[in-house]
Amino acid sequence: MTKKIVINGGKKLSGEVSISGAKNSAVALIPATIMADSTVILEDVPDISDVHSLIEIIREMGAVVTFEDGTLTVDPANVFAKKMPTGKIQSLRASYYFMGALLGKFGEAVVGLPGGCHLGPRPIDLHIKGFEALGAQVETINGAVHLESKNERLLATRIFMDTVSVGATINVILAAVRAQGVTVIENAAREPEIIDVATLLNNMGAKIRGVGTNVIRIQGVDELHGCRHSVIPDRIEAGTYISIAAAVGENITIKNVITDHIDSFISKLDEMGVDITIGEDWVRINKTDFTQLEPSKIKTFAYPGFATDLQQPITPLLLMANGTSEIIDTIYPGRINHIPELVRMGAKASVEGDVILVQGPSKLTGAEVAASDLRAGACLVIAGLMAEGETKITNIEYILRGYSDIINTLNSLGADVRLIEE
Ligand code: EPU
Repeated sequence: MTKKIVINGGKKLSGEVSISGAKNSAVALIPATIMADSTVILEDVPDISDVHSLIEIIREMGAVVTFEDGTLTVDPANVFAKKMPTGKIQSLRASYYFMGALLGKFGEAVVGLPGGCHLGPRPIDLHIKGFEALGAQVETINGAVHLESKNERLLATRIFMDTVSVGATINVILAAVRAQGVTVIENAAREPEIIDVATLLNNMGAKIRGVGTNVIRIQGVDELHGCRHSVIPDRIEAGTYISIAAAVGENITIKNVITDHIDSFISKLDEMGVDITIGEDWVRINKTDFTQLEPSKIKTFAYPGFATDLQQPITPLLLMANGTSEIIDTIYPGRINHIPELVRMGAKASVEGDVILVQGPSKLTGAEVAASDLRAGACLVIAGLMAEGETKITNIEYILRGYSDIINTLNSLGADVRLIEE
């Protein structure tokens, strides 16, 4: 039996959506909680399968955890440096944050990692380079990364990131918060999720300065204590619902949005002619006039550039524009597996070299399609909502990793979406 999402497309949606806490924050905040010596309470944690996997993992490490109504309570008093070369830890990529968290707290870690992903190569060389610079010995044995501090404590240093990386920046922060001395990360990533993780760690007693700029300074401390922290809203979930609203909605209000976090995305929609009203912490998509919808040229970059995670969700909207749009994903050029699926639904889209070409207006019809990754799945959900007839999406576990309660949310807006098992 496999789960599938079935969408009966062509419905006009309207109403309100409230955005959950950010997945890409939560998947780093949860590993960070085990670094404290007493209870950490995280609020607005999204109810997604990646969070449930991380809860299982930290329980295996000895944490006492409850998760109710978005509040995650972690008592890490009995956490130990459990070696985890295989098992649940390999089920999600964000497990790499246990390398930084365990190394930072215990000076050692064994973390199994998932293999290749559907976005093309996703190396972790910068994470490892950072750990080594802090004085860790790092070896990969049978797909598991073994880390051990060569000294009693990790030793602070200056680290230049060759590429701007969210994961490597957070992981080095995690390792460095308890190191001896002041670590400086240069060419650091500036994503809002990094600020969120540093805010939690500072509330736990860490001394991290400069997050949100490309130079971060971390004064090592001897211990970290419990605290309470609220997760920031998910800017990618917000961008996904905005794309849905622009493509098949009218008067949809998306609440709990930090609009600054999606500036580059909103300015693209503005250029295309989508009618948007921006509020204090909400966005409303009014009625899109498709006869006037302009094609667009999109290039993804590290924050504050256009997010790679939003290039797939915006693609169905480009199919409704009047002309050919171009997308270049400079972060993950291999993030193209949604294109053949859209073509099965009748889209005029192709990949030429590094460029995704999307020809509008293209009419979509329902088909059976497969999600290759989380955001490709979101793209197919939007395409299914737009298409005439029935769309059946397989591999939906990818979608459930990152979008909480997506089926009920869409149905509350007037969509006809159901989960089936076949
Ligand atoms: N890179 C390296 N070496 C490294 C690390 C990264 O070459 O050691 C390269 C990558 O190949 C990529 C670029 O640097 O070309 C940026 O990758 P980054 O490290 O920033 O990605 P990540 O931390 O692995 C996070 C999100 C992704 C999101 C990227 C955007 C999490 C758990 N994941 O991944 O989210 O696409 O940042 O930079 O935070 C998603 O939510 O669907 C998702 C895939």
